[in-house]
Amino acid sequence: MRDKISREHFLKTTAMAGAALLVSSLEGWAAATGKKLRVAVIGCGSVSNRYLPQLLSSQLIEVVSLCDIKYERAVAQNNEYKVKAQTYRNIDTMLKGVPFDMMVTLTDMQVHGELNRKALLAGKHVWSEKPMANTYAEGKALLDLAKSKKLRIWGAPAVVNSPQFAFMSRTIQEGKLGRIAAAHGQYGHTGPTWSAFFYEKGGGSMPDLGVYNMATLTGLLGPARAVMAMTSIVNPERTVDDKGKIKVEAEDNAHILLEHDKGVISHVMCGFNYFDPHGHEAGNQSLHSIQIYGDYGNMRLIGYDWETNGVMLDTSWDKPAVLMSAEKGGYEWQEGARVVGESIVNGTEPLINVEHALHVLEIIEAARKSSATGMKVKLESKFPWPVVK
Ligand SMILES: NC(=O)c1ccc[n+]([C@@H]2O[C@H](COP(=O)([O-])OP(=O)(O)OC[C@H]3O[C@@H](n4cnc5c(N)ncnc54)[C@H](O)[C@@H]3O)[C@@H](O)[C@H]2O)c1
Repeated sequence: MRDKISREHFLKTTAMAGAALLVSSLEGWAAATGKKLRVAVIGCGSVSNRYLPQLLSSQLIEVVSLCDIKYERAVAQNNEYKVKAQTYRNIDTMLKGVPFDMMVTLTDMQVHGELNRKALLAGKHVWSEKPMANTYAEGKALLDLAKSKKLRIWGAPAVVNSPQFAFMSRTIQEGKLGRIAAAHGQYGHTGPTWSAFFYEKGGGSMPDLGVYNMATLTGLLGPARAVMAMTSIVNPERTVDDKGKIKVEAEDNAHILLEHDKGVISHVMCGFNYFDPHGHEAGNQSLHSIQIYGDYGNMRLIGYDWETNGVMLDTSWDKPAVLMSAEKGGYEWQEGARVVGESIVNGTEPLINVEHALHVLEIIEAARKSSATGMKVKLESKFPWPVVK
């Protein structure tokens, strides 16, 4: 029976079942198809080196297509990782080529929205690197489109998946820090050197770096109601591998204040001119990048929210801070596409939530508006919270 049910029949059946039945229809995936989730990766640059091993490690996923407008990159990654996929020069030929179920978007940030829309229109689920669209309105339209077609779309990052995020969330919910007042997150380095898009309009340090802290702080403290921000361009000219000397058009320095419920205020600072000799690993167990303050305690996330090394917890005047939750439990920041792909096959709901990604996108847009106008900007989006129950 399993072999007799075609994928087309399965999709037709689930399409008729309605949005409310989405999870149960997903449950039917493995039973109905008995097949792996077929994935197409678009964008075979730097980050694909992290994604491909993750996707290829899954028993439930098969990478069937690789695409890059710099075609030689698709071919090179196919060989490097022994993917045995079809390779394509653009999305249109890929959508007409070997059938697949989910597209993983790893291109320049500015084209994510347009590519994700094409994939949804062609009936594919989508995992997108951040941001999932250029504006909140464009992102929301993508979600509406996905829902209308009984498809799923998700956006990076995957920071809510780490055991450290779960520990911090529970610590707050159990009241161990008392009444929460304030939080801070920071993430910066001296900027990517390989591609111009990070510095062009639609790029910037907020969608590339600040996005992690925004996802973490809203994930821990709840949706933000309003934003005030200052952004700037510190270094107006850069030299990058793909275009040589370029003008920097997007913010390379940003400070964002978020207003949460119950008087909680958090702050994110991100930029492309932040010298940090400790690097991404933050191996020294005393270095933190996120701090949460309550009136009975505070905690510091050691390392970065995407590269977590533990949490230092202070709840006593007399006793020293304690290192908690240093185990990663297999968490890796590049796991998002694999995790949501496996959730489709298993019929489970992942912690990563598209409305959370959209909320962060609205924050980024609001921060730019606030900086340009000097005004506090109200937000309309929310997401299911708390993330960890
Ligand atoms: N590099 C990292 O370590 C890293 C980490 C986390 C997230 N990201 C995110 O991943 C995305 C990609 O970053 P990257 O560093 O890999 O950039 P990159 O420049 O190394 O790679 C992007 C690739 O996309 C291709 N591309 C652009 N437009 C395309 C289109 N229309 N169709 C097909 N291919 C297209 C480019 O030719 C290039 O090969 C960005 O959103 C970035 O913020 C990168």
